[in-house]
Amino acid sequence: MKKSLALSLALLGFSATASAAQVVGFSQIGSESGWRAAETTITRKQAEQRGIDLKFSDAQQRQENQIAALRSFIAQGVDAILLAPVVATGWDNVLKEAKESEIPVILLDRQIDAPKDLYMTAVGADSVHEGEVAGQWLVDKVAGKPCNVVELQGTTGSSVAIERKQGFEKAIADHTNLKIVRSQTGDFTRSGGKEVMESFIRAENGGRDICALFSHNDDMAIGAIQAMKEAGLHPGKEILTISIDAVPDYFKAMANGDANATVELTPNMAGPAFDALEAYWKDGTQPPKFIQTDSKLYTQSDDPEGEYQRRKDLGY
Ligand code: AHR
Repeated sequence: MKKSLALSLALLGFSATASAAQVVGFSQIGSESGWRAAETTITRKQAEQRGIDLKFSDAQQRQENQIAALRSFIAQGVDAILLAPVVATGWDNVLKEAKESEIPVILLDRQIDAPKDLYMTAVGADSVHEGEVAGQWLVDKVAGKPCNVVELQGTTGSSVAIERKQGFEKAIADHTNLKIVRSQTGDFTRSGGKEVMESFIRAENGGRDICALFSHNDDMAIGAIQAMKEAGLHPGKEILTISIDAVPDYFKAMANGDANATVELTPNMAGPAFDALEAYWKDGTQPPKFIQTDSKLYTQSDDPEGEYQRRKDLGY
């Protein structure tokens, strides 16, 4: 139901949600990681629980597919759009079209480089902070010892890859014992993480010159752990591994001693997004421009086996 009609009904004392299901278009990036799969599952569940009609579109990692999906949602006259933007730039035109059609857009889990009036709010973590939490963990863990770090970056051009890198570099900047010796994208996938880690190992004396891995997500770290094992190395011991997401398989690796720490990113971005939309549909309430989720650090002391059990059936 369109915003103007919903507001008129609200003024007349009618509940908009009681009269017709709200239709929300969701442009998802793809299914590159366990975290992404969980976000999709939770978004579908949240929509179902709230009686929202969710139109789902999988962009298969391509921005042009996302722009086409948004244009299709606009043509269908949806009541709102959720957008998980694969990269940060190139959204202005399509978002202007949504704005002209009075369709609110909410960003999920990644940010964009566009004027803030082109979207209603963004739900996600402070990705610079995530990188800082990871970097600070490593600073504390190595306690001044020399440590060569390899970095697996997320999708090139995504806000999270740019910001996690910035945050990590900021955290280690004053610690000359820590040095990033190799950094390359693994595109947030297990296979990408494995392949790039294999090349890092080859380039760094069979891995013997690597002290730590900073991975922008758990799936790449899991692929990298496999590469280390196949090279006869001992991840979690010879090569410290710090990552981001907190997916069940990574907790399993932590429980087995193959990984050391992860920074949690909740896959429930849809809950806060739908809360914001429902308040807006009810009486026009505008949410803040950024709804920040927590970034909790988990280490091997935080019951990784228990965390695995708690998360394994949540859609990852
Ligand atoms: O934007 C969030 C990131 O995207 C997650 O950390 C990663 O797993 C996903 O692909």
